[in-house]
Amino acid sequence: MSPTDDVPSSTPSTPSTPHGQPLWHGRFGEGPAGELLDYTVSLPYDQRLADDDLRGSRAHVAMLARVGLLTQDEHAVIVTALNRVEEELHTNTFRFVPSDEDIHTAIERRVTDIAGATGAKLHTGRSRNDQVALDLRLWLRREGAAQLDALVGLQEVLLQRALDAGDVYLPGYTHLQRAQPVLLAHHLLAHFWALARDVDRWRDCLARADVSPLGAGALAGSSLPLDPAWVAEELGFSEVFANSLDAVSDRDFVAEALFVAALTQVHLSRLGEEIVLWSTEEFGFLRIADAYATGSSMLPQKKNPDIAELARGRAGRTIGDLTGFLATLKGLPLAYNRDLQEDKEPLFDALDTCRGSARALAGLMATATFVPERMAAAADAPLNAATDLAELLVERGTPFREAHAIVGSLVRQSIERGLPLDELVTTEPHLGPDALALLEPGTAVRRRTTPGGAGPGPVVVQLDAARERLARERSWLDD
Ligand code: ARG
Repeated sequence: MSPTDDVPSSTPSTPSTPHGQPLWHGRFGEGPAGELLDYTVSLPYDQRLADDDLRGSRAHVAMLARVGLLTQDEHAVIVTALNRVEEELHTNTFRFVPSDEDIHTAIERRVTDIAGATGAKLHTGRSRNDQVALDLRLWLRREGAAQLDALVGLQEVLLQRALDAGDVYLPGYTHLQRAQPVLLAHHLLAHFWALARDVDRWRDCLARADVSPLGAGALAGSSLPLDPAWVAEELGFSEVFANSLDAVSDRDFVAEALFVAALTQVHLSRLGEEIVLWSTEEFGFLRIADAYATGSSMLPQKKNPDIAELARGRAGRTIGDLTGFLATLKGLPLAYNRDLQEDKEPLFDALDTCRGSARALAGLMATATFVPERMAAAADAPLNAATDLAELLVERGTPFREAHAIVGSLVRQSIERGLPLDELVTTEPHLGPDALALLEPGTAVRRRTTPGGAGPGPVVVQLDAARERLARERSWLDD
């Protein structure tokens, strides 16, 4: 679908908006300047709202018929025209004309082409101000479900990889310096829980967006006997607006969705960053499947983690979408202002970005190969067990601060004198040879036993919790 200057196949019988003229033609002595249309048009991107616009219009005319503003016959004629418009839009046979400033104008113009004076009753009691607010809420409801689906899909992959990871462990890092060994499952689940909070945020945001603005008119309601509550219910909204000014000027739901998308993308970016690091030769913890990696145009040996890098890079876009739109909103007086048309591009961009990133990372993570030997080799460096040595001293009655200093000094000597840590541990009076077991490969991770910790005991519990959480998320999606 793209705007063209083709004329439509049928012409109206008695059009009240003459074909090709703006909706406000009665008030104006001359037609719009080319620059005006070029500058104000939103059709190239708001066509995505076509199905929502049709849905809203069907509910609106059903309400008009219920309250007696349309006869049953007129209602039927408009519904038939809307059906035809839908068919034309879906089969790419809808012909846009230059005066089709946005999708709402285009559909109403075409309904009037088809249904003549009856079609011209479609917009009774409605403004594009409440119409566009409605359409965008309907769109967000649909798209929100798709966002949830993509996030839950990625969580599923992370959980599956965690379940398959068994007792594989790697170094956990702070400051990107090796700190203590953790199970791979534990590390993967850390990303799972961040996404679980994003899922919660989506649900919360969608619940607050679940308010119908239709019936607010341009800003003040109507003198006609409209029934906003009926139409809200018809469209499946749980609530109807309380204040017509607020209804047409409120874009909190857009700002909230942008925040949820931006934070989600930040989480995806952090996962992306780890994939980039882990797939380097320096780390060597992960190999990306060929299908999810890219090559270099010049360097034959290269295998690059472009998906992970783009997931990281695109966080910048979604943050920009959020901050840019907040700047658009700030300072707008009540009620509708054309500035609000600037809600759609950031919203579409951020949500497309986020959904695409989640899907691409899910594919990458599902097919990547972990390299347990490299992970273990890095994790088993004796220094990574320093905390366990200090904790052994604590168990033997040494105050922790003192234990920390004793072990810290062993580490310093080991580094400065180039002596193996186990030798120093053996000769340290507070520790001795029986402390050496703590330095055995794989020991430190098994000793992380506290709830929510990184060792096998708590991770089994965590895997169960994650499985339960995912089942709950799946049931929300089915609702
Ligand atoms: N395309 C417009 C938008 O997205 C529709 C509403 C136009 N309303 C108006 N009063 N000009 O906001």
